[in-house]
Amino acid sequence: MASAELQVLIRAIRYEAEGVLSFELEALGGARLPDFTPGAHIDVCLPNGLMRQYSLTNASNGRHYIIGVGLDRASRGGSRWLHDHARPGQVLTISAPRNSFPMAEPLAGAVLFAGGIGITPIRAMAGHLAAQGVPWTLHYAARSRVSAAFAADLHTLSGDMRLHLDDEAGALLDIAAAVAAAPMDAHLYCCGPEPMIAAFLEATKDRVSDHVHIEHFGAIAPQADDGGLVIELARSGRVVEVRPDQTILEAVMAAGVAVASSCRNGVCGTCETRVLAGEPDHRDLILSEAEKAAGDTMMICCSRAKSPRLTLDL
Ligand code: FES
Repeated sequence: MASAELQVLIRAIRYEAEGVLSFELEALGGARLPDFTPGAHIDVCLPNGLMRQYSLTNASNGRHYIIGVGLDRASRGGSRWLHDHARPGQVLTISAPRNSFPMAEPLAGAVLFAGGIGITPIRAMAGHLAAQGVPWTLHYAARSRVSAAFAADLHTLSGDMRLHLDDEAGALLDIAAAVAAAPMDAHLYCCGPEPMIAAFLEATKDRVSDHVHIEHFGAIAPQADDGGLVIELARSGRVVEVRPDQTILEAVMAAGVAVASSCRNGVCGTCETRVLAGEPDHRDLILSEAEKAAGDTMMICCSRAKSPRLTLDL
């Protein structure tokens, strides 16, 4: 874990929607929790040895953090453990909050886009905007009414909440039309699955880049056709095997090598590592095309290799 560790108690678990539970976490002994800003996330260390990132969906109050966890049917143990095994009263280790999806300051009128469980950081943003009296519109896309977590709560906020239900509409949210209708000076925020992010980025490509903000949810997992690879750690000469279901970061950390990381999504740059030999397969959203072609560094939380072996400056 890259930042200070905290011990928290699971105070409550709530059913929020089909496949979505929320977890209310409080510091042991009633201590005050560190403050955070909307868009922040925490790392959660699970008892099965996995670490996952979850956005904080409540407002900072020093007393508790609330995360929303969607059950990923392809889960390799993160959301599955929380849904199947977590119980109120259990103690978890988490990181202090970090924010790789901050809101622009000073706060300005915003148009928010959320898809599925991507609603968690967006809910915190909508709540903050409403509390500050700043106008906002939220386009919240969910598969169906029963899967739209936090929708009822969002409808109570003073703002323009627009719920799009794929099954009732018979079509996906028209992101291009929603972006086109947004004021040109608005800040646009989007969190959702990859196709939604891609459509959002395409629709906003002519906007001022400082006004366009995205966060992918869930760590980028290896793809089904990814094979294993071998990493040589140049500083120690050790060789680490990366299984097909592991990221390079996970394999290196499992080998006892400390590497700073934050988003684990290829969007923050914390895990950038120098490549001394081999050809990376870049999957991050940080490096430019020229930097990717040069192959001098890579984000080891998500990228893999085109060559069977990489030598890293670790
Ligand atoms: Fe954020 Fe790798 S941890 S880019």
